[in-house]
Amino acid sequence: MSRIPPEVVEQIKLAADITEVVGDFVTLKRKGQNLWAPCPFHDEKTASFSVAPNKGIFKCFGCQKAGDVVRFVMEIEKASYPEALRWLAKRYGITIPESDVPKSDEELAKQQDRDSLFILTDWAKEFFKKQLLESDEGRSIGGAYLRERGIQRPAQEAFEIGYSLDQWEALRTAARAAGFQERFLEEAGLVVVREDQPDRKYDRFRGRVMFPIHNAAGRVVGFGARTLRRDDKAGAKYLNSPESTIYHKGDVLYGLYQAREAIRKDDLCYLVEGYLDVISLSQGGVKNVVAISGTALTESQVRLLTRYTKNVTLLLDGDAAGIRASKRGVDLLLAGGLNVRVCPLPVGEDPDSFIQKQGDTAFRTHLTAHTQDFITFKARAWQQEAAGDPVRKAEAIRDVLTSVARVQDAIKRSVFIQECARLFGLDEQILLTEYNRIAHEVSRSGGPAGGGQRPPTGGALPAAAQGVAGISPPRRDGPVEEDLSALEAEAMAAGLLDENGQVVGGGLSASLGGIEEPAYVRYEREIIRLLLNYPDYEVETPDGEKWYVAPYVLGTLAKSETPFRDPSCAAIVEAYHALLRQDILPTTALFTRQADEVLSSIAFDLLSERWELSEGWEKKSIVVPREFNVLQNAVDSAMYRLSQAAVRDRIAELAKALAQASDAASQDRLMVELLHLKSVDTQLGKMLGMVIG
Ligand code: CTP
Ligand code: MN
Repeated sequence: MSRIPPEVVEQIKLAADITEVVGDFVTLKRKGQNLWAPCPFHDEKTASFSVAPNKGIFKCFGCQKAGDVVRFVMEIEKASYPEALRWLAKRYGITIPESDVPKSDEELAKQQDRDSLFILTDWAKEFFKKQLLESDEGRSIGGAYLRERGIQRPAQEAFEIGYSLDQWEALRTAARAAGFQERFLEEAGLVVVREDQPDRKYDRFRGRVMFPIHNAAGRVVGFGARTLRRDDKAGAKYLNSPESTIYHKGDVLYGLYQAREAIRKDDLCYLVEGYLDVISLSQGGVKNVVAISGTALTESQVRLLTRYTKNVTLLLDGDAAGIRASKRGVDLLLAGGLNVRVCPLPVGEDPDSFIQKQGDTAFRTHLTAHTQDFITFKARAWQQEAAGDPVRKAEAIRDVLTSVARVQDAIKRSVFIQECARLFGLDEQILLTEYNRIAHEVSRSGGPAGGGQRPPTGGALPAAAQGVAGISPPRRDGPVEEDLSALEAEAMAAGLLDENGQVVGGGLSASLGGIEEPAYVRYEREIIRLLLNYPDYEVETPDGEKWYVAPYVLGTLAKSETPFRDPSCAAIVEAYHALLRQDILPTTALFTRQADEVLSSIAFDLLSERWELSEGWEKKSIVVPREFNVLQNAVDSAMYRLSQAAVRDRIAELAKALAQASDAASQDRLMVELLHLKSVDTQLGKMLGMVIG
């Protein structure tokens, strides 16, 4: 195989994102600056393998393997250095020129065409730059315009701004003289052919300020061109290169090449609409900014962005129309797993005009003061607009909940639902019901685009779970009505139930939907909800061992012989056990994207149920804490409660049996068990007290 040219090696290393590449093999979890996972190179349950995204390196503190992204691929694919580079090139769609590998003529021709186009656009960019700096027209007209817009020399250079002369064939003539073929000039969209007069060819861009559009690797793929004229004959304010083999406008983000380092460093990207917004902000020191340039945001742009950060802040024009216009784009961002924030600007201002008028400091102050979570922002905007109009309000709620359904993080979803309930003055349960409906619709319509979700760790659900179609709704097991009331009376007498028939100390706030269910159903559902919501979060055993939630909870419960009695919960737990036995960590996706309607609908319900057990939860804060001892508490208390419910049910049974037992021997036996269980109950109560604090 031929040598890979050094500039291509460079290009591959620039494009390859270590988080993304490693993420293909293990599930990374953020802790502080770095990401962690169980090491893919040696056997372990704890996560001692870390990735430092901003340094572009990985290191395992267990087996000491470390290096950059190329080293990672060499290790994991057992590949040589050039093989690893080729692997990465393929992953990132980078073409390696292969001199001695035979290719079909067609392939070869296509690649040569692309290369020719890149050379041409690069040449054109230099040509336009030269016109701006050296020609009389460029200096006087183009230069004056940029001065007027406050774009100074360093920014002009960073963004390689140029100028196209106001002549019909300036570029065409120069390009031909430089040896470029006519067909490439046309393909690149630099020269236009008149349809009615095919021999009449002229420059597309004339008398405009030229903004080259770079791809992420820094090559020029096209141009945006702004007119300087204010009269009617000016035509479109911006004229852009047409789509070509090298330019797909939905695949690029303007300014990304210049912004990429800053985006990684700040772990945040500002998203704006226009070329000048990017340039002015960057000049003002807000370097982590890119533009979507007049088109609607695409999935491909979202994917591109997630290589650099998961945090975006939209800088929007202050009026509500802009917000709704951007809705689809925002849903794509949310579905891509990004945290979306918004900073509204004063009405009538865009980021460029605002920073140019107010200055860098005022702009930053504004950012700090007005940046807020997108969903909160949207709910507030709607709330004002829909005030006093129930129909509009219903529309508003639907709209907001649709966005919530796109959010990938379950904790955030539940916080948003709480927040919306508060903002719209609605009961949270009502909102949840509506949310569930919408979440189903969203999942039917193809579901979240899921750029941020890894493929499920397992394939289809095992046979054990297939049999659960037609699960019946939760029902009361056991005795008929009178028996039940007799049992309850006894239990009350024994101090196990309070006067309302509730298990003493079992205090969950609201019973769902007013339907009375045995306590265990609630606790079982709570546990399943935790399993579904936090598949890859870790919790600790009392002696500090780290486990994923599912094996921890299900293992502990199995050891204490606490059964799952509700049929639908039992079915899900059975499915989990089956997967865990095969060393597969079940993910949410596995259940919610199941073909099995019943199972997936239960999973959906449980996924959207609110966080009830964690008293420590700060309701008012919309910022999700990155510490999960809240989760640890919820997991522990859910387990203890379920065990306690089982113990208490057994105690009630024993109490009843004891009352009916005739012979002394069985009375003694029952009594021993009863006493034992009472002490277990007390112990569980103490542990619960500790967890809840
Ligand atoms: N745009 C475009 N074609 C147009 C109009 C706009 O491609 N005919 C894109 C450009 O990328 C432009 C962005 O949409 O930067 C935003 O357009 P607009 O708000 O109209 O312009 P501004 O960026 O404010 O431009 P300027 O400040 O130069 O007036
Ligand atoms: Mn503007």
